[in-house]
Amino acid sequence: MADTMSSNTTKPINLQTGWPSARLCASTAIFHGAQQVLTSESDAGPAMLYGPRIGHTPLRESLAAWLSTFYAQTRAMGGDGATAISTTTKDRIAISNGASGNLANILQKFADPLYTRAIFLAEPTYFLACPIMEDNGFRGKLRGIPEGGPEHGGLDLAFLRQCLQDTEAETVRIAAESGRVDGPALKTGPSYPKVFKYIIYVVPTFANPSGKTMAEQTRRELVRAAREFDALIISDDVYDYLSWPATRTGDENGTTMALLPSAPPPPPSRLVDIDRGMDGYDEEWGNTLSNGSFSKIIGPGVRVGWADCAPRLAFELGEVGSSSSGGGPAHLSSTFVDKMIRSGELDVHIQKVLIPTYRRRYHVMMECITQLLVPLGVKVESSSLPDKEASTGVAGGFFAYLRLPDDVPHARTVASVALRERGLRIAFGHLFVVAGDTESIARAEGPAGIARCFRLCWAWHEEDELREGVRRLADTLASIRERMSRGEAIQEDAIGVR
Ligand SMILES: Cc1ncc(COP(=O)(O)O)c(C=O)c1O
Repeated sequence: MADTMSSNTTKPINLQTGWPSARLCASTAIFHGAQQVLTSESDAGPAMLYGPRIGHTPLRESLAAWLSTFYAQTRAMGGDGATAISTTTKDRIAISNGASGNLANILQKFADPLYTRAIFLAEPTYFLACPIMEDNGFRGKLRGIPEGGPEHGGLDLAFLRQCLQDTEAETVRIAAESGRVDGPALKTGPSYPKVFKYIIYVVPTFANPSGKTMAEQTRRELVRAAREFDALIISDDVYDYLSWPATRTGDENGTTMALLPSAPPPPPSRLVDIDRGMDGYDEEWGNTLSNGSFSKIIGPGVRVGWADCAPRLAFELGEVGSSSSGGGPAHLSSTFVDKMIRSGELDVHIQKVLIPTYRRRYHVMMECITQLLVPLGVKVESSSLPDKEASTGVAGGFFAYLRLPDDVPHARTVASVALRERGLRIAFGHLFVVAGDTESIARAEGPAGIARCFRLCWAWHEEDELREGVRRLADTLASIRERMSRGEAIQEDAIGVR
């Protein structure tokens, strides 16, 4: 009891928040960009007016060059990009106000809730995507597709295909029986030149929440399935730029990781690049869209992101009603970001600040997990394990994803106790269920379901706080076990999302 009381008074630790610490945001570099724009007579005026609907042209150019350089490195450094086309061009880029805003715009423009049959989401899912989809009329039409085990390479494609086949057969049958034409009902006319039958939403690299990276072969098969069923894959590629060796190399304290031989190969080819490289690519619309964001590499407050996709898709995305009226959705910030890319300050920030810091924090967290949680029966689920056998050799992103042993309650109960008694917040499996999908919740609570999993983030807190957070979690688990052994019921409070 004394232990519980004193923990109540300690500083809260939040291993749920998936934000970068404020000190890691590129404030100085963005200030330099702003200074360049706002002190230039030729730049300042246009920057303060409405911008082009599809986005600030210089940023579309500098970003296309930046992405091409990054993803070309992927291949040169050993990524399996054999047939992927990694160079992109301005005409494929539409600027957004971040990946979340872009997801909403994509659904507004290319999905019709009366025609688009379903949105499939990798499960466990980035839960904040669900309300965006529901806002766009898809409540009750979201379906989870399990990531599956190691044999599935990051997505259970057989399950996805079965869902696609069943949904298609059912839709065609209902349309035939009711005599209704199977075509867009709400999104018709010249403003909606392309409406997809399906949307598939994934985070294929360093996924939120599972930390997993989808295998190259799974990516190819996913693109094939999307083509077959007229689906648009929305791929949130927001963590691609943050990766490091999963094993300790002894140079974690260095600040020039990119130059060191231990620098890992960057992530695998994007789905959008695989789509382009495979025979039969639909040059006009494609079946893939890379949803990018500067939130993780500059700071979420900058509210600039991008779509990289087939040129017509990019163009039409810029024609969404709010951009027709208001111009590009992140215009002023876009002008600052453009300067930051051109000056090289974005690269310096990623290589010298973000990667070294996250790399150290990752190793600190993994060591604490190994020392304190693994002996209590907790298992690390992510593919980016520190142990050589299970490792892909590359770690990255923001999250560790773990599984509780079977003799303690669900992660939601553990999270509730940790918050109430030790001031520790963790993200629990129930959060990652696909909203409104009853099968998703049943799977979560079933054998080996995600209700026993939880996610810890290393981006928000400093190393000491990460150590303390993992220690508090270990104490919580030990205390729960002890109470259960005495036959005590473990009380669960309702806890919020943030
Ligand atoms: C997978 C994923 N997509 C999108 C976002 C949000 O991106 P943005 O800030 O660009 O809206 C996040 C942030 O946590 C994320 O993890």
